[in-house]
Amino acid sequence: MSKAFNRTLITSALPYANGPVHIGHLAGVYVPADIYARYLRLKGEDVLFIGGSDEHGVPIALKAKAEGVSPQDVVDKFHYIIKKSFEDFGISFDIYSRTTSETHYKTASDFFRKLYDKGEFVEKTSEQYYDEEAKQFLADRYITGKCPHCGNEKAYGDQCESCGTSLSPLDLINPKSAISGSVPVLKETKHWYLPLDKHETWLKKWILEDHKEWKTNVYGQCKSWLDMGLQPRAVSRDLDWGVPVPIEGAEGKVLYVWFDAPIGYISNTIELTPDWEKWWKQEDTKLLHFIGKDNIVFHCIVFPAMLKAEGSFILPENVPANEFLNLEGDKISTSRNWAVWLHEYLEDFPGKQDVLRYVLTANAPETKDNDFTWKDFQARNNNELVAVLGNFVNRAMVLTHNYFEGKIPVCGVLTDYDKETLKEFTAIKAELENYLQNYRFREALKEAMNLSRVGNKYLADTEPWKLAKTDMGRTATILNISMQITANLAIVFEPFLPVSSKKIKGLINKSDFKWSQFGQIDLLEAGHELNPAELLFEKIEDETIERQVQKLLDTKKANELREHQTNPQKANVVFDDFTKLDIRVGRVLECQKVPKADKLLQFKIDDGLGGRTILSGMAEYYAPEELIGKQICFIANLEPRKIRGIESQGMILSAQNVDGSLFVVQPSKEVLPGSEVL
Ligand code: 2FM
Ligand code: ZN
Repeated sequence: MSKAFNRTLITSALPYANGPVHIGHLAGVYVPADIYARYLRLKGEDVLFIGGSDEHGVPIALKAKAEGVSPQDVVDKFHYIIKKSFEDFGISFDIYSRTTSETHYKTASDFFRKLYDKGEFVEKTSEQYYDEEAKQFLADRYITGKCPHCGNEKAYGDQCESCGTSLSPLDLINPKSAISGSVPVLKETKHWYLPLDKHETWLKKWILEDHKEWKTNVYGQCKSWLDMGLQPRAVSRDLDWGVPVPIEGAEGKVLYVWFDAPIGYISNTIELTPDWEKWWKQEDTKLLHFIGKDNIVFHCIVFPAMLKAEGSFILPENVPANEFLNLEGDKISTSRNWAVWLHEYLEDFPGKQDVLRYVLTANAPETKDNDFTWKDFQARNNNELVAVLGNFVNRAMVLTHNYFEGKIPVCGVLTDYDKETLKEFTAIKAELENYLQNYRFREALKEAMNLSRVGNKYLADTEPWKLAKTDMGRTATILNISMQITANLAIVFEPFLPVSSKKIKGLINKSDFKWSQFGQIDLLEAGHELNPAELLFEKIEDETIERQVQKLLDTKKANELREHQTNPQKANVVFDDFTKLDIRVGRVLECQKVPKADKLLQFKIDDGLGGRTILSGMAEYYAPEELIGKQICFIANLEPRKIRGIESQGMILSAQNVDGSLFVVQPSKEVLPGSEVL
């Protein structure tokens, strides 16, 4: 039996405030949640849409340490960047707050305390790695060592990224602290655990029996966790960044970030409305968590167990998690800068937030991982937004201006064809609503586009521009219907493309519609005056796309270079070894190709010592004339040797790029030829 709900509380995963947000965030979580929130609001339903930044956790503490700033500085910077990106993309949160707010500290503390007082935790002392130099316990991720399975020297305490095996820090061979580089020691520490094993029975029934309707990717992941058997999970950490554990004897310990973050949804609701308990504690609230697939276990198992243990909260009705979005075939990665950052997108495509919202929804990773490519972005803009939606609205507007001075003409008697068109319309409405209600936003968007296709076909089939010569009455009816379809498009696209929907409303000179008006053909009364026609979308040219692709190629190259530079260094030499080399600066006086040798250049160098000749294998990377007059560094006391019959009296120093290309090393300011390099 389906429950009767009177309001919907939508939460969307709180992004970590340690970097800006990218297209993966938008596609996976925020655009779908926003579409749903807008749809419900348009239907006049009672809805709250909660967002905020997740500002605790080890990575934030470590980023701060690495940059020599406080963790608060890090989250202050990114919270506002993230918040602005969401605003720019029209993500219509009712509140976007943060887990460093006072309200959150109090809410999370009280929540822990209540569970503690009720005896819902298990206390356990265990041995964990401690960095004596940094004077702190080490999170799993911050211990590195050799993987016992594949021998990778750079495995992490939670996982080896080389062979993919999940590890515990104690598995690592020769563990090292990633903070100080020292060898960590084992030290006893006490923590509080949520005994998930005790929650297993009701969780199994609640998910596996009562929520079979959850998306298969979500249900499947939950099932495999539940089948494996649940273990107690620590909800505290030894760290100096986070919500302090609110009990005596817990100095230096904070709530685990995954304990406090979901409570952030509650804190932010409290910050928003004094009526918050109605939203979190009444059975007639439909609670929905929009998240990415990496968050499924926390939202479907851990957080519900926390809520149940507390005792006064409702549980989520659904968790429509998405899979991941890749970028041009590779996993999006913040550390490798493999992403399209939202703030950068808007610098390159000002005003085109709806284009990205459209592409990300049309290609959303709803059932499996999907790929974002710039070619697809261009094609969807040019062939769908411009050629279908924009084209229909523009044609209907221009024709009405041309034949009826921009006023809605009177609708005459409908023909069978008109009625058929309107029937198609009704069918689309039913499908579209069904998809929206089941969180299938890409299918819903397809139906919305089909509505514009119906409009385009109607105009193409009825050809009002021809009829206008003979039958103004019929022309009036056709354009009336076309403009009614346009008004319907303003309604139906509001959840998906809010900026464009507003633009359409501007064109047709109407302010607001309700979802219940969708399907009506009397939205614009005869005589109603339209504003001048304007294009909704513009074509994106090849050069624009090529620039974006080039940007990614540059990133790839930079990453390869970085990986190359992390090659292990050679064995140490003593200082005396180094001083044996006589490295000097010289100026290139002459430079030419060596005949019959593809790679060799012959240099005449002013070396401050009377001049010399040096041969170097750089012909593939420089034209000889490029180097004439340049200062270079060379080894002056290298034993001379003959190459192709020419004596080379030294060696020019160059830097080798990852692809093997060579570039000469130069002093950053001019010096006298013959100057020594020390
Ligand atoms: O994966 C993440 O980005 C987490 N910061 C999501 C937290 S969701 C909720 F619990 F706040
Ligand atoms: Zn391994």
